[in-house]
Amino acid sequence: MVKAYENVEQVDYPNPKLAELVQCPYGYYAELRESRPVHRLPSGDYVISRYEDCIEVVNRPEDFSNRFGPAIPGFAEASGVDLESGLDAEIDPWPSPLNDSPHHTKKRALLLALVRRDRMVSYSAMIQGVVDQLIDKFAHRGIVEFRSEFAEHLPALVILKVFGVPDKDEALIRSWMSKFQGHAFRHSSALQQKEQIEAVTMAKEYFARALTGRVSAPREDFLSDLVQAKLSRDGTLHMHALLSEIIVGYQAAIHNTVNMIVNTMYLLLRHPDQMARVCAEPSMLQNAIEEALRVASPVQWIQRIAARDIEMHGVTIPKGSLILLHFGSANHDSTKFSEPEEFRITRPNIHAHLAFGYGGHKCLGMPLARLEARIAFESLFSRLKNFRFAEGKSEVRYLYSPNKRALEALHVQFDPA
Ligand code: HEM
Repeated sequence: MVKAYENVEQVDYPNPKLAELVQCPYGYYAELRESRPVHRLPSGDYVISRYEDCIEVVNRPEDFSNRFGPAIPGFAEASGVDLESGLDAEIDPWPSPLNDSPHHTKKRALLLALVRRDRMVSYSAMIQGVVDQLIDKFAHRGIVEFRSEFAEHLPALVILKVFGVPDKDEALIRSWMSKFQGHAFRHSSALQQKEQIEAVTMAKEYFARALTGRVSAPREDFLSDLVQAKLSRDGTLHMHALLSEIIVGYQAAIHNTVNMIVNTMYLLLRHPDQMARVCAEPSMLQNAIEEALRVASPVQWIQRIAARDIEMHGVTIPKGSLILLHFGSANHDSTKFSEPEEFRITRPNIHAHLAFGYGGHKCLGMPLARLEARIAFESLFSRLKNFRFAEGKSEVRYLYSPNKRALEALHVQFDPA
C-alpha cells in the first residue's frame, strides 16, 4: 500500500497527481490513517484522517477554530464578507460556517428557520412537484445524463423556491454558484478565484435587492422570514453580514446535494443486488442514501485553523496552521466501519458517518438534503424501472476537485415502469 502511494508526499493542491488521485483516494487515505494520522502537506496544512481524531477536532472549537477565513488571502471577498462592516464587534462580518461562538450560535439560530418543522412539512409537496417535472422531461427517452439533466437542477430549483426567488433565475444563480470553490478556494487557480469573486459580487447585488424588497413587502418565503426575524431580534438588518450568510449557505445547499444524489445512483447501479432490494423494499431507501453518503462523501474535507500550538499523535501543529479534516477518510476508517470499501445498505451503524460533519457546525441543511434525495429516488424508482449504466458508459470519472466527490457525468438507461 505504502509503495503504491510513495509519491503521495508530493501531493498538494493543486497538483496534476491529485487529478488522478481523486479518481480513487481511498488507498492514500488508508495509508495516512495507518502511518501518518497527522500529516503535514508541503503547503504546511495538516491532514487529519482518522474517525476518532476528526470527532476530537470538531469537539475542541477553542483549539480548532472555524475562523480560518482571515488567514486566506481573498477569502473574505470570495465569501461575500465585507470586513468594513465588522468594525462593530456585535455584528462580526464572517458568516456562521466561518465563525466560532458566540457569533456562530447567534447567526446559526436565524438560519435554523430554514428547516423548522412546519417548513419541512411544506417542502414535501414542492419537492415532489420539482422532481416530477424533471422526470417528465426524460422519462419517454429511456436514457438520461443523470447529473446535468436531473441532479444539478433539483437542489437549485428547490432552494430557489424555499428562498422565494423566481424559477427563471435558476440558470443565472446556478452559474454564479458553480464558480464557488467552498473550502477549496485557496487551492484554486488565480482565474477561478477571480471568477468566484466576480460571481459573488453579482450574487450580492441580486440578493440585496431581494432582501430590501422583503422589508417593505414580506412574502411567504424564507428570505422574508429571515428579514423579519433579524429585524425583530436585532432591530436592524446588518445587510452585509446577512448577504454573506445567504451566499455561503446557498452554495452549500446546492453542490453537495447534487453530488449526494449522483453518488447514490452510481453506487446503486454498481450494486444491482442492492438496487433490486431498494426497489422492492422502499423502506431500505434511506439506508442506501446514508451508505452512499459514507462511501462517497460529497464533502471530502473541511477546514479548521489551529488557535494555538497543538500536540496530536506526537506531531506539533503550530498555531495558525490550516487543518484539513478528512471526513471522506474518516468514513472509510476500518476501526469504525467493517470492510469500509463495501457499499452495504444493511450496515448496523449506517448513521455513524461524518458526511454532514459533527458537533456544533454539523450541517444545518441535512434534513432538507435527505428529503430531496428520498423524494427523488422514490419517484424515479416508482415511475421507471431497470436502471442500468447506458451502454459503454459504466466507466466514470470524478471531477478534479480537492475536496468534493463529484462525478463528471452519469449516463443511465431505464425502462418505463
Ligand atoms: C448532501 C448534502 C450536504 C452535505 C454532504 C453537506 C455537508 C456539510 C458539512 C460537512 C458541513 C460541516 C462544516 C463544518 O463542520 O465546518 C455542513 C455545514 C453546513 N451546511 Fe451542509 N451539506 C449538505 C447540504 C446542505 C443543504 C441542503 C444546506 C442548506 C439548505 C446546507 C447548509 C449548511 C450550512 C448553513 C452549514 C454550516 C453550519 C454551521 O457552520 O453551523 N447544507 N454541511
